[in-house]
Amino acid sequence: MTAASRWTVQALILLSLPVVAQTPPYALKLAPYVSSPFRTVDRILELAALKPGETLYDLGAGDGRIVIGAARRYGVKAVGIEIDGKLVKSANDRISKFGLEDRAKVIQGDLLQADLALADVVVIFLQTQLNEELRPRLEMYLKPGSRVLSYSFAVPGWKPVRVDRTDDHPGHVIYLYEMPPVKN
Ligand SMILES: C[S@@+](CC[C@H](N)C(=O)[O-])C[C@H]1O[C@@H](n2cnc3c(N)ncnc32)[C@H](O)[C@@H]1O
Repeated sequence: MTAASRWTVQALILLSLPVVAQTPPYALKLAPYVSSPFRTVDRILELAALKPGETLYDLGAGDGRIVIGAARRYGVKAVGIEIDGKLVKSANDRISKFGLEDRAKVIQGDLLQADLALADVVVIFLQTQLNEELRPRLEMYLKPGSRVLSYSFAVPGWKPVRVDRTDDHPGHVIYLYEMPPVKN
């Protein structure tokens, strides 16, 4: 390698370093942040029919409004998974403000990597393609009888037990799914 080409390689490495260093730990973001209206949060939680001792997960938890609603009004454990660090912080700040730290938290992470073994109810407000990607994970983890509530976007390949249209807006649809019993 000539001195000139060695210099070029070194310069390229140096130039690329700040880019690598600036890459956030969770660079992947698959659905934009749009919060569910509070009226919809209330309806989702009503349809979830949470029972004492159950655990709700909100995958892509945003500002934590569903997690907080479940923990405050239904007294259940509630976990949010959220990729955006600022939203994670504001959600956990609100959880502390309401004194719900014993049963609610929002964790920074990728929802496609989430361990859902403890979930009785999963709430999603994502996009159709992401729902499709998530489906095998839900099928793998969720116990029979667990509920999945998806706001605005259906889960391709699943048959909802209920489609709730509470609003005049055509997109305001909540799909309720129930995990089937295990076949012998
Ligand atoms: C449409 S918002 C829904 C927010 C909240 N669940 C609600 O209903 O108000 C989708 C959320 O998913 C988050 N998100 C997108 N991709 C994600 C990923 N791969 N892992 C975790 N969260 C993700 C976004 O940052 C955003 O906050």
